[in-house]
Amino acid sequence: MIEAKSISKFFPVINEKGLAEGLTAVLNVSLTIPDGKIVSLLGPSGCGKSTFLEILAGLQAPTDGTIHIDGKLVLEPLPATRKEMISYKRRYRFISPLANGVFRDRPKHDIAMIFQDYAVFPWMTALQNLVFALKLRNAGRTGTAKLKKAQLMEKAVFFLGKTGLAAFANKYPSQLSGGMRQRLALARALSVEPKIILMDEPFAAVDALTREKLQDELLRLWAETAAVGPPLTIVLVTHDVQEAVYLSDEVVVFSPSPGTLRNRVPVEARRPRARTDPNIVEIEERILAMFQYDINQESEYSI
Ligand SMILES: Nc1ncnc2c1ncn2[C@@H]1O[C@H](COP(=O)(O)OP(=O)(O)OP(=O)(O)O)[C@@H](O)[C@H]1O
Ligand SMILES: [Mg+2]
Repeated sequence: MIEAKSISKFFPVINEKGLAEGLTAVLNVSLTIPDGKIVSLLGPSGCGKSTFLEILAGLQAPTDGTIHIDGKLVLEPLPATRKEMISYKRRYRFISPLANGVFRDRPKHDIAMIFQDYAVFPWMTALQNLVFALKLRNAGRTGTAKLKKAQLMEKAVFFLGKTGLAAFANKYPSQLSGGMRQRLALARALSVEPKIILMDEPFAAVDALTREKLQDELLRLWAETAAVGPPLTIVLVTHDVQEAVYLSDEVVVFSPSPGTLRNRVPVEARRPRARTDPNIVEIEERILAMFQYDINQESEYSI
């Protein structure tokens, strides 16, 4: 279970006059996401969705508030005393105090993240991208949990196959289409068998048809994974209302910047769903009306 309590994020920025100003990207967001659910974070551009997702992943520290995953804090506070520092060093074996900021955020949870721009390594083939992620995850394992080289390779090939990329194992990302790159990022995320996948606008850069296909593939993989192992939780950022409603168990609507929780809309339609299901369409319309209201409010203020 993911529990976000009163998360706020403030960025100090210097304006053109050289004066310090601040920007509040996320304001007081509290959210609980149960295991095995698909939850979408929906909101207009710049409302703080990516920032909030990175805070969930532990890649950014919130200015205020806490994130717990399965009862454990995602980011530990930095050591304050000499004694704490010694035990901290022993635990994390960081290279130098300068690297502290980097290494304190070691993943302590089974999370995989897919970034807004996919972030697969362009100098590695599809297969190498997966093997690399598996090796990183394997480095933290000990004893029998540690996989042999051949097992890593086998797993990588298996997940490429699952996402329909078996024939492209030795191609570089630049040789793949946008949809395939997206599938590669998904294969890499799935290959480490995480409990949580965080996705930042995963289907924004592909055409409408490919997008629908990828959405269905994601739902298929999510159901398949849950059938054989522990439930997989997916938190997905999008600004596409249809996508959010079609995929999710719950749509979390953010207000325009600074991102606050505007509304939480449960989607109880049974799976597999039809995009034209009247329940789904009704929820989409309800959310669109909310956005329309926000836009009208904004234009009233700006007059
Ligand atoms: N490192 C940073 N320093 C200063 N401001 C930042 C930083 N990162 C994000 N912001 C600001 O925080 C706000 C929220 O950004 P964020 O990327 O979270 O938005 P978003 O909802 O993901 O938008 P989009 O839909 O366009 O991806 C924006 O106004 C952005 O300019
Ligand atoms: Mg974003």
